[in-house]
Order: sequence, then structure tokens, then C-alpha cells
Amino acid sequence: MKSAAARDERMLREALRLAARGEGRTHPNPSVGAVVYRGDRVLGRGTTRPPGGPHAEVVAIDQARRRHGERSVRGASLAVTLEPCDFHGRTGPCTEAIVEAGIGRVVGGCRDPHASVSGRGYRRLRARGIEVVRLLEDRCREQHRGFISVCERQRPWVTLKLATTLDGRIALAGGESRWITGPAARAWGHRLRERVDAVLVGSETALADDPELTARRDGRVVRRPIRILLDGRLRVPRTARLFQPPGETRTWVLCRKGARGIARVRAQAERVLAMPTPAGERIDLQRAFERLAVEGLTTVLVEGGGQLAAALLRADLVDEVHWMIAPSLMGSDGRPGLGPLGLESLSEIVRIDPLEIRRRGPDLHVQGRVVHRSPGSGPRIEGARRAVDGSRPRAGRRKKATAGEVQEARRSGRARRARKERSTR
Ligand SMILES: NC(=O)c1ccc[n+]([C@@H]2O[C@H](COP(=O)([O-])OP(=O)(O)OC[C@H]3O[C@@H](n4cnc5c(N)ncnc54)[C@H](OP(=O)(O)O)[C@@H]3O)[C@@H](O)[C@H]2O)c1
Repeated sequence: MKSAAARDERMLREALRLAARGEGRTHPNPSVGAVVYRGDRVLGRGTTRPPGGPHAEVVAIDQARRRHGERSVRGASLAVTLEPCDFHGRTGPCTEAIVEAGIGRVVGGCRDPHASVSGRGYRRLRARGIEVVRLLEDRCREQHRGFISVCERQRPWVTLKLATTLDGRIALAGGESRWITGPAARAWGHRLRERVDAVLVGSETALADDPELTARRDGRVVRRPIRILLDGRLRVPRTARLFQPPGETRTWVLCRKGARGIARVRAQAERVLAMPTPAGERIDLQRAFERLAVEGLTTVLVEGGGQLAAALLRADLVDEVHWMIAPSLMGSDGRPGLGPLGLESLSEIVRIDPLEIRRRGPDLHVQGRVVHRSPGSGPRIEGARRAVDGSRPRAGRRKKATAGEVQEARRSGRARRARKERSTR
């Protein structure tokens, strides 16, 4: 009995490994993993295909049938990282495919929080006489955190990556920043790009570094995530690498509604997301990320620069940080890795917990989860946090004022009142 439970867990962990393979390729759908097995023998494996293609359960069942014959799956077990869907979308319901295949047991990971599933998938399977066992809920939520973030917070999971010197600088005063870290840290940055739906940079970074934002291994492009440029005033020229090669770019531009030159950018970019922005204010990042979720993105990697990183932290929009620290110093005339956070007391400090530290060649890689300050920004993902450190979720703190509100309030000396108003809205 004990060994059967251990086997189920082993198979679900194999399904998690398969799910990780599809990261960044299935949005707006989650990248699910599935394994069909009988005893210790794996009959079929599956990862969700890009949108329009079959879900992981169907891929695994089809593979088992192809390799071992039509009848091989009857009475077999299926381990799957996310609750099977029970509705007609671009594909048929997975619950129907499972019932029709004659699967006898389902070992399910986390519940699917999508309004059209939300427990219905597991209920349907049980109602059709299939035994359902639930395992590794937290670990599976962690795997599907992007999709879960969109379902529960209406915005993608946001990862911030920065590379700084030991004294927290990202560029010389003149703007030169390449390269602060060594090849091992940079290679790891490319691995991160392989696993997300999109990579985002601020306009100053695009102007200073002219980045390509592709995922490369040994100089070879292995993936082209969607590239997002936050360029309120459309200052980045059409010759920028982000717009190359012409006509083939998967570049989205977030700009102010009515920005000059928008027609030109529409001809170059795959999408232009024009955000209504009052004069004198910056684009509202909360709204911008909600818009990215509507456009189907579930995970976004932000690669700087310092102003954008600080604005995101002020708005409590960062979930995860990857900070590469080089053993070098630039001095206070170097550009800071983080712009101002506008904190007034130490109790407002941004905390990272849990934290992991690794060596990447000569550099340090500090990785962790941002402790969200407001209930709406993260606690429902806390299941994922628990999976990492085994701790219980913390109560959220009140929501801080947005970047625009802080700036405006500070100018007129009303910072305290602005935050209070926001917290009671
Ligand atoms: N070492 C590293 O890891 C690393 C990574 C990236 C960059 N860098 C370096 O960092 C420097 C650039 O960083 P930076 O801090 O000056 O600029 P940045 O963060 O790349 O871009 C800031 C710009 O983004 C636009 N923006 C639009 N909406 C915004 C909002 N809500 N909040 C903040 N910005 C918004 C603003 O321009 P508009 O008003 O025109 O929209 C703003 O000037 C370069 O020297 C680059 O080489 C280093």
C-alpha cells in the first residue's frame, strides 16, 4: 500500500518534470504534464501543446495507445499536474477523453482555479466511477503559478532579474553596463528567458543597450519569447534590435495613449498597447500588467533597468527576484540598480523570503520571493511559497500607494494621506 502511494508521487513528479518542459510555450494555457502508467511501467507521457493543440492528458493517452495498443490504457492510472478541464474550449474536455479511454485512476496535482473548472473536473471523474487521488497540491501550484496568478489576481507572475556590482550599481554614469557579470551568470539569464512567456525592459535600457532579448545558448538563438518594450513616449528608434528583423518581430510596445509616432510603431510591432495615462504621470503598471494578462501572458520576466524595477516594487508587482551580484565595485557615481522606493520607515522595506544563494562562476545568484505588502498582491499564491520553505502564509499588509500617487503626494507634501486614502478604497 505504502509503495503504491510512493509510486503515485513518483509519477506525479515525473509529470511535473514534463510540465516544466513546456514553460513559456503554451500561454494563455498552463503547461501541464501527464503520465499514463500501470504498476511501475510508464505507458505514455505528455506535455500540453501550444494553444489549439491537445492538452497533456490527451497527449499522454495517445502516446500510450500508439506504443502499446488501444487497450493498453484501460484500467491504467494517469498522473496529471493540474485538474483536468471539463469544458469545450479550443479542444474537447479532458475529463471526457479520460473517461472514454477507460482510465481507472487519476492522481491529480492542484485544483484548477479557472472559473470553468474549479473542482468540477475532479467531481466529474469521480461521478463516472474513476478513483481520484490528490497529491502535491502546493508543488503543483508552484509549477502553474503563472496561470494561477492570472486566474486569481488577473495579472501575470512577475519575475525581476538584475545584475549589479557588490555596491548595487548597474551601469557607469555614462550608461555602459556590459558586462557586469560573467558568462555563467549571463547563461543562466538566458535559461530564465527560455521559461517565460515574455521579457520586458524599460525604454532607457532599450536606448542604452539595444538588447535583442532572445534566449541564446552558446550564441545560438534557442527561443524567441515575446519582447515587451515599456516606452511611454515612443523614444526608441525603429532601427533598434527589438524591432528586427522587420516584419518578423514578436515585439509588443506599451506606451501612453496618444503618444506621437504611434502609427509608425504599429507598423513595426506585433502589438501596441496604448495605456490611457494622465498628463505628467507615468504608465500605471498595475493596469499595464492586467492588460498583459488579457492579452494572454501568464509569466513576464523584467530585465530592468533600475527605474522600472523600482516602479514595479513600489506598486508591489514583483513576485520573484533573481539578482546577480558581481564581485566588483563601481562607486556612487555608477547608476543604482534600483531607483527610489519612497520608503518612510523601515517597516515598509521590501523583504525577500525565502531566499536561495548560489555561485554562478565568480558571481553570486540571489533568488527569492518578494513578501507582498497587500492582500490582493500575493497571498492566494502562498500555497506556492509554502512549497518552497514549508512556512505558513503571512498576513498581507495594506496596499501601498501607486508610483504616480507617491510622486504626486510627495510633491505636495501629502504622502501619508495618499497612502491612507488608498488603503481604505
Ligand atoms: N545590469 C543590469 O542588470 C541592467 C539591466 C537593464 C538595464 N541596465 C542599465 O540600466 C540603465 C537604464 O536603466 P534606467 O533605470 O535608467 O531606465 P529603465 O528602467 O530601463 O527605463 C525607464 C524608462 O521607462 C519608461 N517608463 C514608462 N512607464 C514607466 C513607469 N511606470 N515607471 C518607470 N519607468 C517607466 C520611462 O520613459 P518614458 O517616460 O519615456 O516612458 C523611463 O524613463 C542603462 O544604463 C542600462 O545599461 C542594466
